[in-house]
Amino acid sequence: MKGIVLAAGSGTRLLPMTRATSKELLAVYDRPMIYYALGTLMRAGIRDIVVVGSLRNQELVCKVLRDSEGWGISTALVVQQVPEGPVRAVSICRDQIGTEPCAVVFGDNLFLGSGIDRQLRAAISQVSGCTAFATRVRDPQRYGVVAFSPDGRADSIEEKPENPKSDWAVTGLYVYDGRLFEIADSLATGDGRETSISDINRRYLETGGLRIKRLEGDCNWFDAGTPDSLVDAARAVQSMSRREGRPIAPPEEVAFRNGWISRGELRAIGTAMSMTRYGRHILEVAAEDP
Ligand code: DAU
Repeated sequence: MKGIVLAAGSGTRLLPMTRATSKELLAVYDRPMIYYALGTLMRAGIRDIVVVGSLRNQELVCKVLRDSEGWGISTALVVQQVPEGPVRAVSICRDQIGTEPCAVVFGDNLFLGSGIDRQLRAAISQVSGCTAFATRVRDPQRYGVVAFSPDGRADSIEEKPENPKSDWAVTGLYVYDGRLFEIADSLATGDGRETSISDINRRYLETGGLRIKRLEGDCNWFDAGTPDSLVDAARAVQSMSRREGRPIAPPEEVAFRNGWISRGELRAIGTAMSMTRYGRHILEVAAEDP
């Protein structure tokens, strides 16, 4: 299955931090934010990835993608000319994805812990309609909110409601069937009006094709799109790294464990960064007994 990483937002909620760079390239503890989104897809076995960048950040995103060439994945950059919203961003990936199912992740979302790997793999292995992942939050007004009927099925999806019907936020990770582009195109009007991903998901809901999976097990989710949530995410990564005594799931290590790059290739990546804890960890992994 192919994946899409959306990284073409305007980052206005992070100004002036995003004045000279883009949100998805800001650091979250020890790596650029976008590494987490790429890593989420890679951990689920996805190695064919389309990244949507913006006119402003395309060169910087390209640099990150050049690095990722050494991870045994194949990436393509698609440029969204105007930040008209995630629906439009998805819609311009049609040529790369075709009519196949795909996974979409927001470039400012972090899924820490291995719990999501199993859930995402399960959704990928049995694609039907749209699978979205939800979790309980304290501030549902910030997100797409899903409410459930008494039998546990998704009842409604509302984008950033003033009076949320539940405290279940829909995270920025979705698996879609081949209807995605038909739906996205019908919503992406191109008249400058921002549509949200919840509009796509609501279409699936209306036709009985939406499945909401509640995040289970070891999984901590962050949307790092505001100054506070960016710091919260960095702190969580830091404390997890300290507790485990190593960087958390670097994509380079994921690539090696997935069998996508050789020990020698991993060693070369680690050597180039051996002045950092991150690089030394990569070298340690490369030196592990087979
Ligand atoms: O993080 C989860 C939330 O993400 C969901 O609960 C909401 O339903 C969903 O709408 C979204 O809300 P945000 O307000 O966080 O969306 P944001 O504007 O940050 O855009 C989401 C991603 O899409 C982000 O990685 C940037 C990217 N994007 C955004 C725009 C506006 C694009 O690639 N192009 C765009 O034009």
